[in-house]
Amino acid sequence: MSAEARSDFDPNSLDFQEDPYPTYRKLQEAGPAVRNEAQGFWAISRYAEVKESLLQPSRFSSERSFGEGRAAPQGIIVIMDPPLHDGMRALVNRAFTPRRIAALEVRIREIANGLIDAFCEVGSCDLWRDFSAPLPTTVIAELLGVAPEDREMFKEKSTQIASSVGPGGAGNTNTAALELVAYLGKAFDAKRRSPGDDLMSALIAAEIDGRKLTQEELVGFGLLLLIAGNETTTNLISNAAVLLDRFPEQRARLLSGEVPIPAAVEEFLRYDTPVQGLDRTLTEDVRFGDLRVPKGDRVFLMLAAANRDSKVFPEPDRFDVGRQPNPHLGFGFGAHFCLGASLARMEARVAWEELLRRIPDYRISGATQRLPSSIFRGLLSVPIAFTASR
Ligand code: HEM
Repeated sequence: MSAEARSDFDPNSLDFQEDPYPTYRKLQEAGPAVRNEAQGFWAISRYAEVKESLLQPSRFSSERSFGEGRAAPQGIIVIMDPPLHDGMRALVNRAFTPRRIAALEVRIREIANGLIDAFCEVGSCDLWRDFSAPLPTTVIAELLGVAPEDREMFKEKSTQIASSVGPGGAGNTNTAALELVAYLGKAFDAKRRSPGDDLMSALIAAEIDGRKLTQEELVGFGLLLLIAGNETTTNLISNAAVLLDRFPEQRARLLSGEVPIPAAVEEFLRYDTPVQGLDRTLTEDVRFGDLRVPKGDRVFLMLAAANRDSKVFPEPDRFDVGRQPNPHLGFGFGAHFCLGASLARMEARVAWEELLRRIPDYRISGATQRLPSSIFRGLLSVPIAFTASR
């Protein structure tokens, strides 16, 4: 039996978050499961083990408490296990149809261009504040059917929640989430009284074998959509802005049409994965190589490390917008695979189609600011300058 590999890296340290990739490489070299005693989890960083673990949702449980022993609101499928998870996911899927998502493209492009209109004549802006943050918020709020005057509040609360979750932050009281729960309860009540052609109304109406979502489940799922759909997509767009500035030759390949934007979106997801890793708790002993990790222990499935595994991605640290194949795990895998993946892909594609069309020569013009989070890789400020146009 090989010795237990250990690494007490601190996922909450800002130095680590600035450039986690050398640590990921060391973890991969150290073994399939590396004990982090200080943080109380096992780091799973190799592609094969991360994917294999995601395929066993019953052994790798997603269930967790919701701050100081409070039970999580029902309906948050991302922290539910099978079989409950699967039934609920099927039910919400009824409302989250490909047709509903595809129909959004025209509107998403309109929103994107409206945001660009507001800064393109100036020649500079903060891309995070003026574009990558408001775009997904507006989209998800419109998709849900949330009143326009409440959208700022959503973005603010979701950012607060994003920076408080993760291996070091889990378990904190989450007042922002509780405030959103109260708001959504009222919003669903209003929709029940006067339904419209929106996702909230479709979720209220969704039914399988006579079973409908309860009010608590509706609120929980609404909360999940707001959190899952905002921060991640914002980060995907912001991270890409930095990458296309750092690698101008890759931007040129997109501008010339040599590489289609959807391929680049996959590489953005791989290279600077917005969700760096996923927390799971073992419901039974699990073997990783020679190592037996006991039931009850926490594992951190490091999607971002897996996406830089040289066994799967040749020259993993090379940013290549045309990379083929690109089987990254940026949206997870298996039972919990991101429900919003097609929406996120479309938003990022439309965002970059419009940004590269309208401000093709943008450059990062000042210091960017990183989102402090052990789970989400993203930014809170992306100052850019470009040739002004109308
Ligand atoms: C770039 C953008 C996005 C990324 C990187 C992302 C990533 C992920 C990942 C990694 C998971 C798996 C979680 C787990 O296994 O524990 C997930 C689940 C989920 N995502 Fe996304 N996501 C994005 C955008 C969205 C959007 C736009 C929505 C909805 C509007 C959304 C809704 C969900 C939901 C509901 C789940 C839970 C699915 C389940 O547990 O069955 N996501 N996402």
